[in-house]
Amino acid sequence: MKLAIMGAMPEEIAPILERVGDYKVTKRAGNSYYECSFGGHELVIAYSKIGKVFSALTAATMIESFGAQKMLFSGVAGAISKDLSVGDLIIATRLCQHDLDITAFGHPHGFVPEGAQFIDTDDSLKDVALQVAKEMDIVLKEGVIATGDQFVADPVRKRFIEETFNADALEMEGASVAVVCDALDIPVFILRAISDAADMDASFDFDAFLDSSAKVSADFIMKMVEKIA
Ligand code: ADE
Repeated sequence: MKLAIMGAMPEEIAPILERVGDYKVTKRAGNSYYECSFGGHELVIAYSKIGKVFSALTAATMIESFGAQKMLFSGVAGAISKDLSVGDLIIATRLCQHDLDITAFGHPHGFVPEGAQFIDTDDSLKDVALQVAKEMDIVLKEGVIATGDQFVADPVRKRFIEETFNADALEMEGASVAVVCDALDIPVFILRAISDAADMDASFDFDAFLDSSAKVSADFIMKMVEKIA
């Protein structure tokens, strides 16, 4: 099985590259793709750069050019749910694009014709995650993750996303990766560790907790890779 592991930023994949040892590097469309074997699987690993366009490009490249058969995303997110604190993990049950807006034509937020307001993630990958969480004795929250091309550091925007999509966390890549995987029929799993609360302190907290939270997420993903059949 060839698995894709992607993040958005170098910090999100650095702990994964450290863990796998030797890899081959291929440059394609402005990004580096790292290929190696680990846990009985072939892996292709990359960070996309921040945002929906770059993450969609990277996800599509991993699938179409590198032959990835399942997609695992590891990274950090801003918390919406009060149950989530810095360092906590959340897996997406489904994802939406909070900044996609053709409501002027009577459509709901996050929806365009022939698309869907929410994209579901893969049940069997979520089951693997729940198994790993049980073994590690850690709490894994499941919920809606909202994605947009915006670093949210504003309580009003945060409340809008919570109320409109019933979202538990927000970030800038998950839904675009999920849209690509859905279109190409590739199972997708999105994991995030909380770096901030998308509030007035968010940019300060993000800088303070990016490395540590990215590592929490990356370590969990690597445990999952060893368990995926
Ligand atoms: N990723 C981590 N924190 C975030 C925030 N506050 N807004 C958008 N993406 C994030």
